Parts: sequence; structure tokens; C-alpha cells
Amino acid sequence: MGEHYFAQRPKAMRRPEQIRFEVRGHAFTFRTDAGVFSRGEIDRGTELLLAALEIGPCELILDLGCGYGVIGIVAARLSEGGRIIMTDVNERAVALARTNVAANGIDNAEVRLGNLYEPVADMAFDHIVCNPPIRAGRGVVDRIVSEAPAHLLEGGSLWLVARTRQGADSLRHRMAATFGAADIVKRGSGFKVLRTTKRPP
Ligand SMILES: C[S@@+](CC[C@H](N)C(=O)[O-])C[C@H]1O[C@@H](n2cnc3c(N)ncnc32)[C@H](O)[C@@H]1O
Repeated sequence: MGEHYFAQRPKAMRRPEQIRFEVRGHAFTFRTDAGVFSRGEIDRGTELLLAALEIGPCELILDLGCGYGVIGIVAARLSEGGRIIMTDVNERAVALARTNVAANGIDNAEVRLGNLYEPVADMAFDHIVCNPPIRAGRGVVDRIVSEAPAHLLEGGSLWLVARTRQGADSLRHRMAATFGAADIVKRGSGFKVLRTTKRPP
């Protein structure tokens, strides 16, 4: 069986590639490799999420499970004066994300290796943005949702994307159970973009 894209230390033989990508009026290039998620092209769910994302200037943003860095790097370009932390459990993805931050001239993002929220244990964000690792299992995805409130500022949002056929609706219910409500803010190509916001108690 093939190796999972969320292996901590991928063993797959290197197959470096470069992807060019344009979104929201900005052009980016990304180095990718075997052993990381969606290495041949930007995932359509990720693309939909980026089209929906509403971020403002000077915001603190977490790209959880950053892969080779698409979400965090685009967010860094969109948030004037913002700061972006990108994390992933996959060492090869983290190395690529660091390369891609530099290659795209981004100076307001940093990449940290580690499991779920561990690399940002003491931090709270304006946005947590994630294309969750559905294949890593329900336990991992549940923790992304259930531990999000501890890492969001009041008024901060958790943004997730999932395929309708891979449980986007049940994911939305889990978000609503944790936060009180969750919205579908965009849909297309078989995906739904979900957003929920941390309200005052
Ligand atoms: C669906 S991919 C999305 C990658 C990237 N954000 C994108 O949109 O192309 C999910 C990412 O989560 C990472 N991941 C899986 N389990 C994780 C965990 N426990 N902690 C942190 N990252 C994890 C995987 O290595 C993978 O890069």
C-alpha cells in the first residue's frame, strides 16, 4: 500500500516539481515533491477555500496542516501587516513550505513542525484555516475542531473545506456542536467551505 501523505518522515523517492498558481490577482510558485499532499496540482478544495477566505490586515492566522504551504503563503500575501504560522506533522512538507515561503518573497510567515496545535500551544488566532487530513481519521479531524476554540480569539474564525462525499456535512455538524453554529460559505467541484466563529460566552 502507498505511503500516506501525512507520514512524519516520508520515504517515497524524491520527485521534485514546481507548480505555478494564480489566485486573487497574485501569482505564486510552489515546489512540491513525492510524499506530500496533492503534489501535482493545487487541490481543488484548497482552491475553493482560498476563493472564500475573508481576511483583513494585521491579522494572526494559523494554517494548520500546511503541506507545501499554499494556504499560509496566499494568506500572508492577502493580509497586509498580518502574521502567519504554518504547521504540519510531515517533515518533507515543512521543508517545502519553508522553501516556498522564501521563494515567494514572503516575510510575514513562519513554518513549524509538529502535531496538530502543539507547535502553537500558547497562541490564539484571528483565523485558523485548514484543509483537514480526512484520511488521517476521525480522531485527528475531531481534534482540529474541538481544540480550535482554545486557539481562537473572540470573534476569530475556523475555516475548513471538505468533499461533500467525504463527510462535509457531518464536519459542519461537529463544528456547530462545538461553536453553536457553522455556515457553508462556498461550494463547488464537490467541495464545501465551512466557517464557524468563536462568540463571547
Ligand atoms: C489535506 S492536506 C492539506 C495540505 C495543504 N494545506 C493544502 O491545502 O494543500 C492535510 C495536511 O495535514 C497534515 N497533517 C496530517 N495529520 C496532521 C497532524 N496530526 N498534525 C499536523 N498536520 C497534520 C498532512 O501532512 C497534510 O499536509
